Amino acid sequence: MENLIEIKNLRVGFEKGGKFLEALKGISFSVKKGEKLAIVGESGSGKTLLALSILRLIEPPGKITDGEIIYKKEDLLKLWEEEVRKIRGKEIAMVFQEPLSSLNPVLTIGYQVAEPFLIHTKIGKKEAIEKAKELLKLVSISDVERVASAYPHELSGGMRQRAMIAMALALNPEILLADEPTTALDVTLQAQFLNLLNDLVMGFSLTLILITHDFGVVSETCDRVVVLYGGTICEDSPKVDIIRSPLHPYTKGLLNSIPKSGEKELKPIRGQVPPIGRFPSGCPFRDRCDSAFEKCSKKMPQLKEIGNGRKVACFLYGE
Ligand SMILES: Nc1ncnc2c1ncn2[C@@H]1O[C@H](COP(=O)(O)OP(=O)(O)O)[C@@H](O)[C@H]1O
Ligand code: SF4
Ligand SMILES: [Mg+2]
Repeated sequence: MENLIEIKNLRVGFEKGGKFLEALKGISFSVKKGEKLAIVGESGSGKTLLALSILRLIEPPGKITDGEIIYKKEDLLKLWEEEVRKIRGKEIAMVFQEPLSSLNPVLTIGYQVAEPFLIHTKIGKKEAIEKAKELLKLVSISDVERVASAYPHELSGGMRQRAMIAMALALNPEILLADEPTTALDVTLQAQFLNLLNDLVMGFSLTLILITHDFGVVSETCDRVVVLYGGTICEDSPKVDIIRSPLHPYTKGLLNSIPKSGEKELKPIRGQVPPIGRFPSGCPFRDRCDSAFEKCSKKMPQLKEIGNGRKVACFLYGE
């Protein structure tokens, strides 16, 4: 099937103290229509910057310095802001990590869910509020009247996150971009929310890009996984393969550090994600990698196809 969105050699960085520090170092991947892609990596890997870039929401001192984001044959990075505004929310909708910071504290939930209709369509306020209530029902909110007339702080985290999804779905988008949507929820609510997300993605034939630091979330929801570290892609593989036989040492590390039934001991990856500008030369993962060898300090491994729809950036494979 055809690619719905294609990211090519995306580079993003920050001006800091007279220096330019690169945070995304040439990211390339594509997503087909109807595909459910997970983007996984520890905090500080560049996941949110990637999401913000796709929506053209990077703000100074951040800057996109290179690359293309081809959506329906157009490069989003070349559009005027006015044209981007027609795509943001309407074609590509986003759910953020912390709903409280993305909801307006002084507007009711009902009004905020209705707002996309008021901005992007010609329907009146009353009809828009009715549509908002339908959406709130759709995201399994039972007491719609109460929720619609509530302000964000009056709701639980789980309810707020559902309201965010309702807003995101309002204009029937093509792509739903969800950045750690369950991180602020407790474990039971997380599972509930992921089920709901799954149902909605199926029901609306959405293309999903789900960003998470938690491989546990991936196994429920997605069919392909892109692993991000230090602003580079380590591995891009179908989900079944990556979970059964991870290739990149970083992917292996991430999988070893999630709890599995029957196993008591977790093996976290040693060390920490450094801040931008502090990654080692050569392979960005080499100071944490148990398989590192001489070559790894000399060159940055490039992402390459190794067959069966799998790509990996590591000198242990080929080269
Ligand atoms: N506004 C900013 N100014 C400077 N550095 C930033 C800014 N936003 C993000 N970064 C840095 O870019 C890197 C990637 O950040 P981010 O995309 O938020 O990672 P993730 O979402 O994977 O946790 C981090 O090192 C972060 O500190
Ligand atoms: S390229 Fe080298 S340092 Fe990087 S992940 Fe592979 S083995 Fe480890
Ligand atoms: Mg993030």
